[in-house]
Amino acid sequence: MNLDKLFNDSYERVSNMGENNNLFFDCFYEKFIGSSTEIADKFKNTDMKKQKLMLRSSILYIMQLFSTHELHEYMEEIAIKHNKKHLNIQPELYDVWIECLIETVRELDPYFNEHIELAWRMFFSPGITYMKFKYDK
Ligand code: HEM
Repeated sequence: MNLDKLFNDSYERVSNMGENNNLFFDCFYEKFIGSSTEIADKFKNTDMKKQKLMLRSSILYIMQLFSTHELHEYMEEIAIKHNKKHLNIQPELYDVWIECLIETVRELDPYFNEHIELAWRMFFSPGITYMKFKYDK
């Protein structure tokens, strides 16, 4: 079982779906924002079109962290932006974030299975650990 291949093939299948090539990010934010009023509140003044683009590009740095162990300085910028002193995104909200991401892949990837789920979780775990770690730094 090769996690790189499982993840990359799955990401390729889902990341440009739909008429606007953005179905994945549309579905993800619908789930994430719909998951609680606390999360909906955080995004109440957000330009979601821009937000989806930002997430698309930041995901690349998260993937890079898993595959190369390279912490790009952009990751640090994002983590600081989310920390206690700024957006104040509590660590447990990242658990909701990853569950919504996995649910989105489950819905959209026609080949979704347990191995693909594990590959996604593994790819995102260093990035999520890092975001949580930076919360009170
Ligand atoms: C690994 C997970 C996450 C990644 C990669 C990520 C990525 C990003 C990026 C790239 C931005 C834009 C930053 C900028 O404007 O320069 C952003 C903004 C934001 N994120 Fe996250 N995020 C993550 C998790 C979360 C979670 C769990 C929440 C909880 C609600 C959250 C809430 C927000 C909010 C409220 C903004 C600001 C929106 C605005 O500008 O109005 N993010 N995120």
